[in-house]
Amino acid sequence: VASTVLALAVGYVLGALPFGYWVARAHGVNIFEVGSKNPGATNVRRVLGAGPGNVVFALDAFKGAVATIWPVWWALSRGHVSGQIEIVQIAGLIGAMTGHSFSLFTKFRGGKGVATASGGVLMLVPLAALVVTMIWIITFYATRYVSLASLLAAAGLPLATWALGRPTSLVVFAALITVFVVLRHRSNIGRLLRGTENRFVKKPQPTS
Ligand code: G3P
Repeated sequence: VASTVLALAVGYVLGALPFGYWVARAHGVNIFEVGSKNPGATNVRRVLGAGPGNVVFALDAFKGAVATIWPVWWALSRGHVSGQIEIVQIAGLIGAMTGHSFSLFTKFRGGKGVATASGGVLMLVPLAALVVTMIWIITFYATRYVSLASLLAAAGLPLATWALGRPTSLVVFAALITVFVVLRHRSNIGRLLRGTENRFVKKPQPTS
């Protein structure tokens, strides 16, 4: 129990690091006030272009990965066995996603958790991560809606985890990620249903 609480707490602090907000601020922009007002890679890319957007995706995915991978070392050093290690890892990623979306550094506001989850899921269930990345890519190129791609990828995660025969704890956790991501995309779902969701457009590179 102590290891689980520690992983949750460290995950929260790691996840709370508001990279989207910081990268945008370095470019003189308050990301909470522009575009979709979301401090995630998609909105940073929308407002500032591919470079800063990709940096934010990488950093947000990295913090999710770190929050999920260090508990393995910790749990092993404490003599925990296989099933227990996964629980501590899951706690790390729950912490990171919660921290990302309700960050103590940005008045408990934050992003939608997709990049952070992707880093953690890659550590936890790599093959399922591969499957849902394919779902994301296909949906994105077919529709140009990042949000729809994220939603369908999230929906596919518990199915892929189950189909790959991973333990029930991981399947249940994957379903929790789906619920989390869907709840964080409520405004996007509303816009998708009304036909007013932002379609991805390539931001022209500045000429000077
Ligand atoms: O992960 C966030 C993405 O799915 C949607 O972002 O800025 O279009 O709301 P945004």
